[in-house]
Amino acid sequence: MDKLIIRGGKRLKGEVYIGGAKNAALPIMAASILASGLHSISKVPDLKDVLTMGQLLANFGAGFHYEDRNVFISTERMSKIEAPYELVRTMRASILVLGPLLARFGRAKVSLPGGCAIGARPINLHLTGLTKMGTDIKLDSGYVIAKAKRLKGASIYLDIPTVTGTENLMMAASLAKGRTLLENAAREPEVVDLANALISMGAKIKGAGESLIEIEGVDDLKPLEYSIIPDRIEAGTFMTIAAITGSEIIIKDCRPENLEALILKLKEAGLSFESFSDGICVAGLSRPRVADIKTMPYPGFPTDMQAQFMALMCVADGTSIIRETIFENRFMHVAELKRMGADISVDGGIATVKGVSKLKGAPLMATDLRASASLVVAALAAKGETTVHRIYHLDRGYEKMEEKLVKLGADVRRVKE
Ligand code: EPU
Repeated sequence: MDKLIIRGGKRLKGEVYIGGAKNAALPIMAASILASGLHSISKVPDLKDVLTMGQLLANFGAGFHYEDRNVFISTERMSKIEAPYELVRTMRASILVLGPLLARFGRAKVSLPGGCAIGARPINLHLTGLTKMGTDIKLDSGYVIAKAKRLKGASIYLDIPTVTGTENLMMAASLAKGRTLLENAAREPEVVDLANALISMGAKIKGAGESLIEIEGVDDLKPLEYSIIPDRIEAGTFMTIAAITGSEIIIKDCRPENLEALILKLKEAGLSFESFSDGICVAGLSRPRVADIKTMPYPGFPTDMQAQFMALMCVADGTSIIRETIFENRFMHVAELKRMGADISVDGGIATVKGVSKLKGAPLMATDLRASASLVVAALAAKGETTVHRIYHLDRGYEKMEEKLVKLGADVRRVKE
């Protein structure tokens, strides 16, 4: 297990290149199940979760090869339809294979993901939607066992605009007989990227990025040749790093139009923005101003940026209110930030953060992916040395974070525990 040792307080400067979006790459890799042949996907980030999805596909009998941000998947000889507990427990996004397996093979056996550090995270909406499309679903010994002769189109209203739920149903509906309407669908850019990938395979999808998605099922799809969008959460994390360290950073390969809520809030906190054709230059104040946030489904403020924004507010000039409305337990970073001297009180889903003038380095424990990122953000501005243990969480979602930070002039080292 690796840890990061960070000596904070340095002004950063330079350019950082943003990788492909993890949460777009995972569903698009799962979409390869839908068509027999050789798929090629580019701009795939070099992350643990990508390899886990690759292992899952290989476990079904597909060929998987990752090289220099390109993924090649051959799906002609898939022979198994079971996603085992050992793989699903390491990555909840494994549930994304359920819709595609059912649509292509009429059968799937996928381990139930169970809860995780940030909440219970049920998959009831995925299952209700698939049942409406004619699937017979049984839960047995921790597995979802699903069967359908051929999926049929249906009108499905999602009680919550679930991201992976929308993606699973969109993939299933692409090969179903007839038309599917997904109402109250998730509108995240990653859902749109998956829809574009499916359309490039021959799927008939309208309305991705809006609340109503219409999918006209087709009989078969062709293999993928697709390039993933940049990761908006990685870009947002680097913006927050500029804001907390009072630095000027040029963020390349990012799409600011996918980050509007965060950018408005960072502007409120004093970060200035200048756009170029291939990126954005951000510059922070010597001390951030306060801003309140409330996490919401896209286009609202992303829950995946809440922890990093809280780190920023820990040193802001005043008191801010942070409301988490997506996950019931996504304040695991609070206890760690408090160990650095942050003044935070939590009442249910609301955190009140009183800014202090300086945080102090401390030994810290990463608990989940975005919580880990928030600890790195805080450590970069703290006085003295911080050690972040268990950074395998960070490695699931940030590609070579410490190398990118070192290039910007930060004092960060990765050390084996
Ligand atoms: N929910 C249900 N029933 C369902 C599905 C979801 O009650 O059947 C609830 C969840 O418990 C949660 C809310 O709906 O309270 C929203 O969850 P959603 O299903 O949208 O989340 P997800 O699809 O499991 C994806 C991302 C997460 C990101 C969330 C919210 C992927 C692979 N994961 O998760 O990313 O936080 O959407 O935007 O796309 C991360 O990258 O760190 C991460 C956790």
